[in-house]
Amino acid sequence: MKRDPLAAIAAALLAAALLLPADSAAAPLEQPIRYSHKVHVTDYKLDCRFCHVNATKSAYAGIPSVAKCMMCHRVIATDRPEIRKLAQYWKEKKPIPWFRVTELQEYTYFPHFRMVTYGKVPCLTCHPGIDKDDIAVQRQEFSMGWCLTCHRGRGVSIDCWTCHI
Ligand code: HEC
Ligand code: HEC
Ligand code: HEC
Ligand code: HEC
Ligand code: HEC
Repeated sequence: MKRDPLAAIAAALLAAALLLPADSAAAPLEQPIRYSHKVHVTDYKLDCRFCHVNATKSAYAGIPSVAKCMMCHRVIATDRPEIRKLAQYWKEKKPIPWFRVTELQEYTYFPHFRMVTYGKVPCLTCHPGIDKDDIAVQRQEFSMGWCLTCHRGRGVSIDCWTCHI
């Protein structure tokens, strides 16, 4: 039987597309304010936990409030357009509508504090390269296989109900 060469190529392309890691397809999202992890973490040496305070004690790491930014930006770089935008949110008492770049399906439970505080897994193991980003990108795909590989290796539960509750 003769195979249709075009169909074969299409199938190969489709297979290649499916094999691509999710992050290579996604362009970085333009956020409402050009907040840069590189400037704050790499250049000014702020600790991740200074802003994402809940990562060590709750399921969610959380995104810092406008008040936290204003601790510094009441006086730092107040003349820049991006800081003016920030000050406007502060004046209007509005939260900044950041786009999410991480996010599991709601049927999966991920308790940050278990991995961070008890497991001692560094933030950058799971969020690689974000300390150098001008626009935050999630490079590690959060697949089930990835979670299971580390759990198996470290003798942590891989029972379905550990993560799907
Ligand atoms: C501990 C102090 C501190 C905190 C807290 C802080 N920043 Fe900054 N931020 C800085 C410093 C220092 C710079 C560099 C200023 C410069 O270039 O002279 C900066 C630069 C910036 C810039 C770039 C300004 C420009 O256009 O050059 C933006 C935007 C910004 N910060 C947003 C934020 C946001 C949003 C938050 C809250 C999530 C925040 N910052 C929290 C200290 C801080
Ligand atoms: C000065 C405050 C500040 C510091 C320090 C900081 N972050 Fe953030 N982070 C933010 C803000 C604001 C956002 C939301 C805007 C964005 O995505 O860039 C964010 C977003 C993120 C996100 C994406 C969340 C999502 O789903 O959109 C991750 C992951 C993250 N930060 C991890 C880290 C890690 C790891 C460190 C330390 C290497 C760190 N952050 C240091 C303020 C901070
Ligand atoms: C073992 C992997 C792992 C480690 C370690 C880890 N994270 Fe996360 N992070 C995730 C996953 C998975 C999500 C998505 C969670 C969800 O959607 O429920 C996430 C989401 C986030 C978010 C988005 C907001 C939120 O609350 O979900 C921020 C911010 C964040 N992480 C920051 C951090 C910081 C800061 C550290 C270190 C103190 C850290 N993470 C350590 C895997 C990790
Ligand atoms: C790099 C290693 C690593 C990765 C990746 C990782 N974990 Fe974990 N996880 C751990 C460790 C270590 C613990 C145990 C911490 C402790 O001692 O309590 C843990 C604990 C947990 C617990 C609590 C387990 C219990 O017995 O109650 C849950 C739930 C969990 N992880 C979910 C996830 C999910 C969901 C993912 C993927 C999105 C993930 N983990 C990825 C290392 C990891
Ligand atoms: C260590 C955490 C963890 C454990 C244990 C775990 N899963 Fe998952 N599972 C995940 C993550 C992460 C995803 C990816 C979906 C998402 O983004 O939340 C997922 C996705 C799924 C999906 C959705 C289909 C898919 O492939 O996306 C099913 C069905 C599923 N898991 C079933 C199971 C079953 C059955 C078990 C027990 C044999 C199990 N899971 C154990 C973390 C886990």
